[in-house]
Amino acid sequence: MNTTKEKSNNSEASTPAIKPIEASTSTIKPIEASTSANPAATHIPAIEGGTPVRETKLYYGHQYLDEADYEAVLEVLRSDYLTCGPKIDELEEKLCEITGAKHAVACSNGTAALHMACMAAGIGEGDEIITTPITFAASANCALYCGAMPVFADIDPNTYNIDPDAVERLINEKTKAVVAVDYTGQAVDHDRLDEICRRHGILLIEDAAHAVGTFFDGRAVGSIADMTTFSFHPVKTVTSGEGGAVLTNDDELYKKLQLARTHGITRDPELMEHEAEGPWYYEMVNLGYNYRLTDVQAGLLISQLDKLSMFKERRKEIVSRYNEAFTKLEGVIVQQEHPKSDTCRHLYILRLDPDKLTVNRRQFFDAMAAEGVCCNVHYIPVYYFPHYMRLGFKKGLCPNAEALYDNMMSLPLYYSMTDKDVNDVIEAVSKLADYFRV
Ligand SMILES: Cc1ncc(COP(=O)(O)O)c(C=O)c1O
Repeated sequence: MNTTKEKSNNSEASTPAIKPIEASTSTIKPIEASTSANPAATHIPAIEGGTPVRETKLYYGHQYLDEADYEAVLEVLRSDYLTCGPKIDELEEKLCEITGAKHAVACSNGTAALHMACMAAGIGEGDEIITTPITFAASANCALYCGAMPVFADIDPNTYNIDPDAVERLINEKTKAVVAVDYTGQAVDHDRLDEICRRHGILLIEDAAHAVGTFFDGRAVGSIADMTTFSFHPVKTVTSGEGGAVLTNDDELYKKLQLARTHGITRDPELMEHEAEGPWYYEMVNLGYNYRLTDVQAGLLISQLDKLSMFKERRKEIVSRYNEAFTKLEGVIVQQEHPKSDTCRHLYILRLDPDKLTVNRRQFFDAMAAEGVCCNVHYIPVYYFPHYMRLGFKKGLCPNAEALYDNMMSLPLYYSMTDKDVNDVIEAVSKLADYFRV
């Protein structure tokens, strides 16, 4: 695993410091034939009285922190600045270095990042944004925060990312932006989406909460869309506890993002309406928020980003091992990858084929938990939520998204999974698919 940090300058359109990793072949050894004390019980699901694949529980995500991370936090705690200090600039420079983006604005979380991006885009009352229903609510809520409405475009049934044709059909004079989510970490189809947004004169905001470390066609996510938002929540690839950032190559958007993060307050003479009355002087030039990240969080994130290549490599290894096993397994469907996405995967989606199994998602999910493998579901289509139903959204709107939701679950995927953990997950899925196959 390569933990070496490569340096590059932070000038405009600089080369990303994290290199894309070519399609990797897994180094995880496949499972050996079972050695259980009671071989007769091993093929019977634990939920039906058989022997579970594992005794200890495995969860779907977990952060990985090492001594360097602890030391990085302590260094900030011992310094003069807990917030508004030099670690924020250092982090923003590092995000630019890693992605090749011109500007980065660190903020308190990925939801704040989306809100700031919508504010910078000038989204307001009467406007619409187009997003996917298969995402965390924040990708749509950012429009509501600004008095605008989200409109949901269906997903591609194979990659599960937003379908560019569905986006194009929904564009009208109210559309101000597409909030395209790199679902599971896989980059959206930039070839199509960038062209559609450019042709219609609307902004592309890439919600890359899942996709730190992902590349599309050799370009790092963060440097491609008009604005890209990241989340650094602990289940994500790198974490600061809570944290987020917006990246852009546009100087004007950058200034607006900085204002949105800090109450709309500035000391920049070019942005102020009046001359400074003294060194204490600042102006609040529009309404903003306190969406700042602390230096303690920034210190941790800088240290985490040093490990991004290592995290990506291991995640790719696990994904390739899962794909290898599940492509051959009747009853489950593997998410397809856009050939240009070099994905640092955050989530691994197991999709059940309802025609080939006698159990539904809920039953399979519970049976996995009984085997010791605790899954999750990402996501409930956003417009299913009562708040969105009250706004007039109805089931049936996005059939591909709804069909995916009915049959999917997220399997454990995180850096510190052992080879045995990975093999246990494969064994549990295979055992249940074999047992419950029609
Ligand atoms: C796709 C997506 N967008 C936005 C967010 C919001 O990020 P945060 O939890 O940092 O506010 C998340 C968080 O899970 C997410 O998955």
